[in-house]
Amino acid sequence: MKKILLLISAIFIAGVFYFAYTNLSKIYPFYEQLTQEHAGTEVSLQPLAQESAHFVGSKKCIECHDDNYKEWSHSNHPKMIQDIKKNPSVVVADFSKLPSDANFLLKDAIYTVGGKFKQRFMLRKDLNGTEDYVLGNYQWNVQTQKWQGFKPWKYWYKNAYPHDNNALPTSRACDGCHFTGYMSTQTRVETGIACEACHGPASKHVKDPNSEVYQASLSDPVRQNEVCLQCHMRNRDKRLEDQNMSSIYGDARDYPMGYEPGKSLRHYKMVAPFEMGHATHEFYANGAAKKNRTQGNEFVHSMMGKHGITCINCHNPHTLEPTAQKNSGNALCMKCHSFGSLIGPHQNSLEAHTHHKADSKGSLCVECHMPKTGRHTGKSPLTVRSHMFGFTTPAETLKYGMPKETNACFACHKKDRDMKTLQNDLEKWGILSWNKL
Ligand code: HEC
Ligand code: HEC
Ligand code: HEC
Ligand code: HEC
Ligand code: HEC
Ligand code: HEC
Ligand code: HEC
Ligand code: HEC
Repeated sequence: MKKILLLISAIFIAGVFYFAYTNLSKIYPFYEQLTQEHAGTEVSLQPLAQESAHFVGSKKCIECHDDNYKEWSHSNHPKMIQDIKKNPSVVVADFSKLPSDANFLLKDAIYTVGGKFKQRFMLRKDLNGTEDYVLGNYQWNVQTQKWQGFKPWKYWYKNAYPHDNNALPTSRACDGCHFTGYMSTQTRVETGIACEACHGPASKHVKDPNSEVYQASLSDPVRQNEVCLQCHMRNRDKRLEDQNMSSIYGDARDYPMGYEPGKSLRHYKMVAPFEMGHATHEFYANGAAKKNRTQGNEFVHSMMGKHGITCINCHNPHTLEPTAQKNSGNALCMKCHSFGSLIGPHQNSLEAHTHHKADSKGSLCVECHMPKTGRHTGKSPLTVRSHMFGFTTPAETLKYGMPKETNACFACHKKDRDMKTLQNDLEKWGILSWNKL
């Protein structure tokens, strides 16, 4: 009798281990991250030494962090703002086609802003005796290879500035996110997003490496993400929480002015307003983005975001991979997910989950779970991939009043199937949309 009991318990224990191994093995290394205690969003986690440090620039880091420097310098972060006079080849726009009513010529443009999806141009125009810039009234759309009008004051700055590009300084609207140091010191220490934008001011650390700088991965998931969300999120000027637009007219900021890595982001920014079920000009009613620079707003609605997965679980903070051009396909997702596992997919094979052949594009995780819902400009193609990671059925796409093209199934099947057919396909596969439950 004893022996039988022993045997039964041995089988039971082995079963538990087998279950744990097959279901939890991949997510297990993240267990500590997902279950750790959170510091809350109020306290500052910035190392003490940094409170009195100043920004020194990335060149000072090469000597000791050559590898990180190399990885970062090949990414797009340092290329966000580039000096045209230093290197004319940074211009990707075709100035021979610039419309004649443009308020600038190539020789007037000091800096390029971006160049992957669109390129804008900064023109020198000082404000109250301090170095400042305004934006050219045309931007180059890299995706369509055309010039198109650009009126930044038309968006949320509508009531914050006169309706004139020459009266909207980049110091207020842009520079906090595109130059390093400007966010907290109102000084353009370095062009682009450099080391100290994520690690904080490092003057003390470069003299004495034992003097700490901020390293986001040592904080809990919510606070870890803040270092990316200072920029990768739609905001409103924090002062609008208790003041109206007219009291900050001409000074409204589109970035969390004063923030430094490790500080409590919520003390510096107000998140762009959104209520589930109500579309805005930035988001669809289910929270999916209509525009770029919305990864943070979307990710906070996602199951992965809520359960403690972070930007840097997927993106290398220095190379930034994966990007649309450089990614490891399904391997990225399969780092944590496995078929038949607790966290899903619940089916036992790729084909059983996707209902497409294993080598079909229809079996790529991002195609269904990161559909393209947003555009870089009103005239750009849909290219901004959603960071909500759920799945939006054709019926839900219609229910939320979203364009058909933003639906993952329709995006691939617009030639051979309509929304109703695709919804029926899903139902045949046993997947019901929420409004049918
Ligand atoms: C003189 C060499 C030296 C220079 C210059 C230097 N570092 Fe460091 N850094 C170190 C050493 C050594 C460590 C490891 C310290 C430790 O483990 O206690 C380190 C650690 C770090 C860390 C990990 C977090 C920490 O505080 O331990 C970060 C982030 C970092 N450095 C960023 C930078 C940045 C950004 C710059 C340029 C602004 C820079 N470092 C310049 C030597 C240097
Ligand atoms: C976009 C934000 C960002 C930028 C820009 C950035 N880092 Fe980091 N860095 C991070 C994060 C987040 C980590 C933590 C990564 C981890 O622990 O997995 C990190 C880790 C580090 C570390 C410690 C771990 C390691 O990889 O050795 C060093 C040192 C470092 N960074 C130096 C630099 C230097 C030097 C630069 C500029 C050349 C730079 N970083 C630019 C976000 C950034
Ligand atoms: C100071 C602002 C700022 C911070 C902080 C920041 N980013 Fe960025 N990020 C940008 C801007 C601006 C771009 C566009 C760069 C360009 O097109 O040249 C960008 C681009 C990217 C890209 C696309 C790269 C490509 O090749 O297309 C990724 C991915 C990314 N960031 C991830 C992160 C992550 C992860 C963090 C946090 C560890 C982070 N960023 C922190 C401003 C920032
Ligand atoms: C809160 C931070 C923030 C502010 C303020 C901001 N941006 Fe950006 N911008 C970003 C981030 C992050 C990205 C990259 C991520 C994305 O596009 O989804 C980006 C992308 C861009 C790009 C596309 C880059 C490329 O390579 O195609 C351009 C151009 C741009 N911004 C111009 C501007 C201008 C002009 C302003 C001011 C009117 C501005 N931005 C204000 C954070 C900001
Ligand atoms: C679960 C993994 C995952 C997480 C978490 C994640 N991303 Fe991404 N992200 C991706 C993948 C994959 C792509 C590229 C998809 C493609 O186009 O093939 C991407 C694309 C991007 C891009 C556009 C890159 C390009 O090529 O234009 C930006 C910017 C970005 N992510 C920022 C962020 C930020 C900021 C966070 C945190 C709020 C974040 N991501 C969290 C997987 C992730
Ligand atoms: C670092 C680990 C990690 C990576 C990498 C990762 N995931 Fe997840 N994912 C999780 C965890 C943890 C959950 C939450 C599971 C739960 O609580 O049920 C989750 C949940 C999900 C869900 C369910 C969401 C919902 O709303 O129900 C989807 C879909 C998903 N992930 C897709 C992806 C895709 C697509 C990728 C690759 C681009 C990816 N994941 C990469 C850890 C990860
Ligand atoms: C052809 C579209 C499609 C592809 C490709 C796809 N999924 Fe899914 N996925 C779905 C649908 C549909 C659901 C179910 C959504 C629901 O029931 O609300 C789902 C659900 C999930 C879930 C939630 C748990 C579950 O099983 O319901 C996870 C996790 C997940 N997928 C991960 C992945 C990963 C990882 C990949 C890539 C290996 C992937 N998916 C590829 C369509 C797809
Ligand atoms: C990234 C592109 C892509 C996405 C996303 C995608 N499919 Fe497909 N689908 C394909 C391709 C390519 C085929 C051709 C057969 C194959 O590769 O399996 C196909 C085949 C099919 C078939 C079989 C058609 C036939 O005539 O035999 C159905 C049904 C289908 N898809 C429905 C869907 C549904 C429903 C969704 C959304 C959950 C979806 N697909 C998402 C690309 C995609």
